[in-house]
Formats: sequence, structure tokens, C-alpha cells
Amino acid sequence: MASTLTQKDLDEILTFTIALARKAGELILEGSKAILASHDVSEKKNAVDLVTEYDVRVEELVRGEIEKAYPSFAFIGEESYAAGKRPELTDAPTFCVDPIDGTTNFVHGFPHACISLGLLYKREPTIGVVFNPFLNQLYSAMKGHGAYVNELTRLPANPPAPFPSLQTALIGMEWGSDRSASTMGKKTRTFTRIAGDPAHDIPEGKMAHGFRSLGSAALNYCAVAAGQLDMYWEIGCWPWDVAAGIVIAREAGGEVFGDKESSVQGKVFTDDMLWGRKYIVIRGVADSPQEKSSEAQKRIVKEFYSCVEEWEQS
Ligand code: IPD
Ligand code: CA
Repeated sequence: MASTLTQKDLDEILTFTIALARKAGELILEGSKAILASHDVSEKKNAVDLVTEYDVRVEELVRGEIEKAYPSFAFIGEESYAAGKRPELTDAPTFCVDPIDGTTNFVHGFPHACISLGLLYKREPTIGVVFNPFLNQLYSAMKGHGAYVNELTRLPANPPAPFPSLQTALIGMEWGSDRSASTMGKKTRTFTRIAGDPAHDIPEGKMAHGFRSLGSAALNYCAVAAGQLDMYWEIGCWPWDVAAGIVIAREAGGEVFGDKESSVQGKVFTDDMLWGRKYIVIRGVADSPQEKSSEAQKRIVKEFYSCVEEWEQS
């Protein structure tokens, strides 16, 4: 296939990617049984950054199938990146893959892990497929063609709600693998401002409805696309955690932003931010006579970032 893709090519690639996600899902389920029996888990950067042989095996399976079907496409995968295969991102069609997103859940038997398959085309997230085989939930999207769950239900399934302020928000956040005092301090102060009660000694507190820490960045994006979470913020994710989710969330009316500085200026995510490791995603908002969805998204992200102390992820 030429490296210039037609719409027909993209349609075929989406079909291929969905089938590949389901095939990978079978291996993830097999791996879950094996790992829960063997407890054979290794550490990467530290004791909370986990990997199993199945992370590697699923990536090998996926990489092999992509090489067979699309030999000219580039491939960036979490496990091969960790092993030193780090191709430079070019305009060529590039699969950006997390074989198991939510490895901590995977090793605990918490049924919230997935494969995340993103296709970057001309550096832009263009196709996204995220499959949780434990719950048989498959999210898919192509740029300009909508986002779906299980290929039938277009997202969001319900009309987007208004978003008056952060106070009404249910927010995805994660613990991450950097547990240093400096990062934990910034994180907990950030969370205190977002969740704290201004009437009870937290003057800057927004008293948001709550946080959810579900353990998979890709599935957090899908939850935002579905309107189950209002937003999700994390520092420290990698392109393979978000490439597919970005397409799914945007196609469901959501918007993605980067770091605090660019977001408070109202700048939405652009392709040069893919490796920025600071991402925030927000659901679509009902248009009102006073404010369009895109304006409401910027307003809420700005409010969110007024609570955030950022750090640099090593
Ligand atoms: C991680 C998960 C986790 C998020 C981390 C990711 P992994 O991916 O998505 O929820 O907090 O930033 O690295 O290690 O399970 O593939
Ligand atoms: Ca992973």
C-alpha cells in the first residue's frame, strides 16, 4: 500500500485494526489466567511500573500482523520502545500501540485493561481502536467519521450535558509511577484544590463531584468519549497510551489539550504535543446560546489548570 492513504485504504485499515484488537484480546484473556496462576510479574522503572511476558507477547503478535498486512507502515509500541526500538516519527502511516494498557489491573485481575491501537497518519491520530476483552467493550473511531462502542452505538450515546463548572465534574486521574515526595506533594495539593470544600477551610477548593482512578489511560479517554467521565488529566502518559484515545474522544465531541501553559492560552492539542506527556481530555458540552461546546471546554480546562501544580516527568 502506498504511503498516501485514500478513504478506502483507511476504511480497510479500520476493519483490520478492529479484527486485530479482538485477536489480541484473546491472548490478553489467556494471559490473564496464566499470570493470575503464576504471579510472574516483573518491574520496569520501579516497583509500581509493572510488565509481564504477555505485554511483550501481545505486542509481538500485533506487530507481526501489522508487518504482514502493511509492511510499509512504521510501528511504535510500548514494549519495543522499552527494548530500544525507537523509530523517529515521520509522516508515514505509523501504528502507535500499547499492547496492554492497565497492566496493574491486568496482574490484579481487575477487569479494566485493554489493547490500544492508534494509527498516526501524517503525524495526526487518525484511527483509534481500544478493546477491553474482559468486558467485551470495543471503542473505535476514524477522524471525521465518528466514534463507536462495539461498532454499533455512536458516542456519545446520550446528548452531552451542560458543564457549568468544575464543581459538577467527575474526573479521571491516576497515581502514575512517580511516587517521589515532590510529585506526590504537587499531585495531592492539586487534588485537594479540585475536591476540597471551600466552606471548610480549603478556600481555593472547587468541591468537584469526585475522582476516579481506573488504571488505564486509554480506557479513561473512552470513558470521556462516552460521557461517563467529564474529563481526565495525567502527567506522564506516553503516545501509545493516548494515540487511539485522542481520536475516539475527539470524534465523540471531546477535546484534548496539552500542558498548563498552552491550555490556559486556549490552545488545543496539536500533533507536535504527542510526546509532551501532559494531556487533558474533556467531553463534549451542550451548545448554549451563550457558549459553544469548544468555548465551554476551554473554560473548564482553564478552571481545572488553575488548580494544578505541574511537574516534569522523567
Ligand atoms: C499506564 C496506565 C495508567 C497510567 C499510566 C500508564 P500501562 O499504562 O494507563 O493508568 O496512569 O500513565 O503508563 O503501564 O498499564 O501500560
Ligand atoms: Ca502497557
